[in-house]
Amino acid sequence: MRAKLIAGNWKMHKSVDQGLELIAQILEQYPAGTNIETVVCPPFPLLVPIRDALKRSSVKLGAQDVYYRKEGAFTGQVSAAMLRSAGCQYVIVGHSERRQYFNEDDNTVALKLRAALDAGLTPIMCIGERLEERKAKVVFDVVDRQLRIGMSALSAAEVSSIVIAYEPVWAIGTGETATPAQAQEVHQFIRSEINRRYGLENAGKIRILYGGSVKPGNAAALFAMPDIDGGLIGGACLNAIEFIQIVQAAEQK
Ligand code: PGA
Repeated sequence: MRAKLIAGNWKMHKSVDQGLELIAQILEQYPAGTNIETVVCPPFPLLVPIRDALKRSSVKLGAQDVYYRKEGAFTGQVSAAMLRSAGCQYVIVGHSERRQYFNEDDNTVALKLRAALDAGLTPIMCIGERLEERKAKVVFDVVDRQLRIGMSALSAAEVSSIVIAYEPVWAIGTGETATPAQAQEVHQFIRSEINRRYGLENAGKIRILYGGSVKPGNAAALFAMPDIDGGLIGGACLNAIEFIQIVQAAEQK
């Protein structure tokens, strides 16, 4: 059984004080004894104060990006070891906004996955097609390429320890969600590709999240799909009530 995972991607939102307030609200409502693994991914300057605020809770900390070099003269960059030392267990890698606005490609994603694992972080590797690619019916080709190159520096055993987030770009921040059937179709494809390349055991273990306008109203139907192991939540994770409702929707399965 794969434990469900809900990760909140705060993107570039919240000051330190606002972030601490949101965490306080989340912890106040967080379901005791839940079997859901929950991660929050705030911006870099909020990591340490939020790590401290999460100390007595089971909610985990993640970052939104990482640089792949270990250290050196790379102004503005943050290494995987630094994230680890700031209390992170997870890091989002290759989010479509990184790919779109910061020119990240699949090779950069591969280097970042390697760096994250080497530092003891669990990467959440984001993949997903753009609208024109869906219209051109090349979804599987795009996802296959992102998977193949992105994971090219990992061993089979390492593959099952990462998390994949399938996020169709046309569904991110648009209010338009893939239907549960559309999402399941791609999740199933991803798992079958992992099976083909890395074997059944690793395919059975790896967690594949769905992301793209997940809200309390659509979460349960998405998480009920057999190959959807939770969600990467953007907009709705900035509201404690909605975020908790999404965690609860994952639990009800
Ligand atoms: P959204 O973002 O939930 O606001 O669509 C998801 C994401 O970008 O991870």
